[in-house]
Amino acid sequence: RKSSSVQKLNSSNSSNSSPSKKKPPSLNLQPPKGTRDFPPPLLRLRTYLFTLFRSASLSHGFSEYDSPVLESEELYTRKAGEEVTEQLYCFSDKGDRRVTLRPEMTPSLARIIMGTKPALPIKWFSIPQCWRYERMTRGRRREHYQWNVDVWGVQGVEAEVEVISVMVRFFTSVGITQSDVGIKVNSRGIIGALLEGLGIPEDKFAETCVLIDKLEKVPVEALKADLEELGITEEQITSLTDVLVHKDIEKISEVVGDCPAVQDVRKLFSMCTELGIVDWLEFDASVIRGLSYYTGIVFEAFDRSGTLRAIAGGGRYDKLLESFGGDPTPAVGFGFGDAVIVELLKDKNLLPDFEKGEVEFCVYSMDEGGTAKAMKVANELREKGCSVDVVLEEKKMKWAFKHADRIGAKRVVIVGGDEGSRGEVRVKNMESGEQETVKVAEIGEWAENI
Ligand code: HAM
Repeated sequence: RKSSSVQKLNSSNSSNSSPSKKKPPSLNLQPPKGTRDFPPPLLRLRTYLFTLFRSASLSHGFSEYDSPVLESEELYTRKAGEEVTEQLYCFSDKGDRRVTLRPEMTPSLARIIMGTKPALPIKWFSIPQCWRYERMTRGRRREHYQWNVDVWGVQGVEAEVEVISVMVRFFTSVGITQSDVGIKVNSRGIIGALLEGLGIPEDKFAETCVLIDKLEKVPVEALKADLEELGITEEQITSLTDVLVHKDIEKISEVVGDCPAVQDVRKLFSMCTELGIVDWLEFDASVIRGLSYYTGIVFEAFDRSGTLRAIAGGGRYDKLLESFGGDPTPAVGFGFGDAVIVELLKDKNLLPDFEKGEVEFCVYSMDEGGTAKAMKVANELREKGCSVDVVLEEKKMKWAFKHADRIGAKRVVIVGGDEGSRGEVRVKNMESGEQETVKVAEIGEWAENI
């Protein structure tokens, strides 16, 4: 294909000698692979999601922040073999700085907190676009928007409960129930305790967690070399994963004892019981999450019908700031992508129709040369806070109504004609078909009272 497009290009170049035949090379109309355009219906859907992300966060007292999509590459040079650090869209800029499109928000958040030193605790949220050079599947793309909700400066599981509560509020607001979605909870502290029992040193913790997470997707044989490098035998990893099948915290407690990680999980469940959200949760020792910086509780929202990839994921990452040279600071949060949730909402038939926009009025002049008058009426309505479109060209009435229907206008205001000569306009309600006349001078007041 490449060569034929090169040929085309060449042939169009060679035809440059005869200007009459000159044709620009044809443009690839797709956005770059794995990325999306957002024409109005899709942007309306995105805005709908973002509005609900925001209102769930704001309802819990979180504040919104943002940062550049371009980040320093050094924020992601963790050496634990995570997928995310291998999927960077990175390059050297013209000043020879190594930069990357951010693959996730958490390191940027850590950078901001380290730089601005806000008084802790803080509760912050954001909806950044993130970039990962991923293998694409349903719900996994090369760019996605990821709602991030984080609490910094709180040691106890109260922080985990708070962020889970925000997530549940969002699900409820889109019509998802606990029979559609569950949130699997585990603690990496349990893995820490198991590793200790197996005599695996603490400094292998992060890498071992990343490796165990990979075991979900690939057989143990494929990871032999990585295990060897870590100094972990296949027997050790097998005895570890044998314990991780448990879905009952008490079974885990029989193996690792009543350690702080087990107590944390119990407390989280008991608090969520009190809040009435425990039906969303299930303990699952096999949930590790693929990021190396999680240190304690980890959790993952999943679709109970089992067809989609993780809807959201998060956990406690108390050592991330330290890894950047900052002071140890407790932190908990989650990332929630915009792609899988849309697939789920489509499957459950829970998405509103975003095909048409929403405009309260469409103003149309039936008189020749009357567009300015229509614009004036539109402005009177806009003064009162209404959303108003105007038919900008001289068109037939039929066209105007078709247009009004296409843009989802609730009412059409007809300017001119007999009513016009009496200082009035005619207003048609598009849903009921009812018509009324309104004095132009009183249209603002009238609009306020409908
Ligand atoms: P993560 O597990 O890598 O965590 O991603 C979190 C969520 O982002 C995923 O569950 C999924 O919804 C979405 N997501 C990730 N990659 C893609 C992709 N390629 N396409 C579509 N959606 C995707 C993090 O990124 C952590 N920084 C989250 C976090 C915040 N932890 C603490 N605070």
